[in-house]
Amino acid sequence: MSARELYQDLRRFDEEYIEFAAFRAAADAIRANLEMFREAGLVQHLVVVGESGTGKSTLCRWLAAAYPMQRLTERNVVPVLVVAVPAAATIASMAEAILTSLGDPAPNRGTISEKARRIVKLVHGCKVEIILIDEAQHISDRGQSHTHYMVADWLKVLIDGMGVPTVFLGLPRVETLIQANEQLRRRFSNRLRLSLGQDESRTVREECLELFQSLGQSLPLRLSAEPFPLDDLGVRLYYASDGRIAHIKKLLGGALRLAIEEGHDAIEPFLLERVFTNEVWWEGVGALNPFNEAFTHRRLDRAGEPFEDVRPSQVKQRGR
Ligand SMILES: Nc1ncnc2c1ncn2[C@@H]1O[C@H](COP(=O)(O)OP(=O)(O)OP(=O)(O)O)[C@@H](O)[C@H]1O
Ligand SMILES: [Mg+2]
Repeated sequence: MSARELYQDLRRFDEEYIEFAAFRAAADAIRANLEMFREAGLVQHLVVVGESGTGKSTLCRWLAAAYPMQRLTERNVVPVLVVAVPAAATIASMAEAILTSLGDPAPNRGTISEKARRIVKLVHGCKVEIILIDEAQHISDRGQSHTHYMVADWLKVLIDGMGVPTVFLGLPRVETLIQANEQLRRRFSNRLRLSLGQDESRTVREECLELFQSLGQSLPLRLSAEPFPLDDLGVRLYYASDGRIAHIKKLLGGALRLAIEEGHDAIEPFLLERVFTNEVWWEGVGALNPFNEAFTHRRLDRAGEPFEDVRPSQVKQRGR
């Protein structure tokens, strides 16, 4: 295989969408809210949480592609409006981000209340049917708590003013923001998680293995679990990925590249072991590498490990 073919394969692999159970459940719930608004004018909101790499931004892109924007001469029609909350969001920066995604020619012009009025007008003018607010944890990440309160309060007023279903997507700590504001809590009582392991009919290990196998189908080499039994590979994949699709993809893509560069005819655990150390966690060797025979079979979520839950306040404390 030429280098060019390899890169084409890797690119195709990278761009492919897999509708794993949690992804499909979240996509269905969002579509149902959109359809309910379209058919009956009912407004239901939703929160979708997931750790980094579970597919939140991908879900936004997938939905925007499923309900594409139409460019008309006088105005664009945008059924699915995607807004990424800027880091350290203030009311002004939130408003500007929303105006930018609505195509406002001068998003930073005007006072806060003028911006809010323009947002409401454009949302109606562009016939927006659902608003996806990605990186919603940025609303609560920085600043004093009274600033959070003000941003949350402003959002609540805006959400009511727009009268369109809204979805918050963000890291699990987004729940803290919603819990802290009673009025948001009441509006966003429906919540979904995007990591693997939400499907009650299967274990998370089975889901990891299935995802690995379906991703592998588009690759030019076969997958092999040797020397492990297949279900054991599922367990190891779970510990190596923490149930996040981004890591499963990284492991497979890296192993494919190594296999082709070194002339192996299958993607095997010894290759995944090397990719885990090189691309996921450089200290992940021996008993701390899920694809090593000596692996300890536990989640790698202790301090300094790749799936440790680090919150901004902890980062600050550590930096001191
Ligand atoms: N349904 C899917 N099918 C195939 N690949 C996916 C899917 N969802 C996510 N991915 C892949 O996983 C990686 C991470 O996805 P994404 O950026 O959407 O995660 P995220 O939850 O937004 O992460 P972050 O919180 O860091 O922004 C990307 O490489 C993306 O291509
Ligand atoms: Mg994202």
